[in-house]
Amino acid sequence: MKNLAILASGSGSNAEVIIRYFRNHETIRIVLVISNKVEAGVLEKAKRLGIPSMVIPKKCWQEETDILKTFKNQQIDGIILAGFLLQVPPFLIERYSKRIINIHPALLPKFGGKGMYGKQVHQAVKLAGESNTGITIHEVNEVYDDGEIIFQASCSILPTDDVETIALKVQELEHIHYPKVIEGHFKTI
Ligand code: GRF
Repeated sequence: MKNLAILASGSGSNAEVIIRYFRNHETIRIVLVISNKVEAGVLEKAKRLGIPSMVIPKKCWQEETDILKTFKNQQIDGIILAGFLLQVPPFLIERYSKRIINIHPALLPKFGGKGMYGKQVHQAVKLAGESNTGITIHEVNEVYDDGEIIFQASCSILPTDDVETIALKVQELEHIHYPKVIEGHFKTI
């Protein structure tokens, strides 16, 4: 069994589909949800779905010994970022080399980097007049949205699509693909 933790800062729609997908899974178990925000919707979802959760506020993420101890105590084998807005500390990246993955709501390397999250991404895509967009699932390294790409999927943008429509199309792709890509990735390591 591989134990995975989900890190999320927001509403947690991806966290929810991932948790549901891995219920009663043969080799992967979602054991913990961690948020940096007390008010994050993902905490309510974790509770409703029966998954333990904890809040680690921003200032505590630099406490190497405490953070590593927490992950060790919970026997975490891998980390799934699902809308986690803090930078993952280097010591965690080192400890979980190739075992931290993130989803970005655009086709990297375009429209990535610091500050590129949520609506900003779709706004930038629309402003650039792109005819398609999509999702990128990648390994996490020390630079925002820069780790090795594991998977991409795209969808077309119609001239009539506004930012909300684009966001919905991208979210649909995320929910379809993220659980399966996690499954494939953690099978191989
Ligand atoms: C998703 O769009 C994901 O690509 C990005 O953060 C968002 C999280 O959304 N990294 P949700 O909280 O899972 O709905």
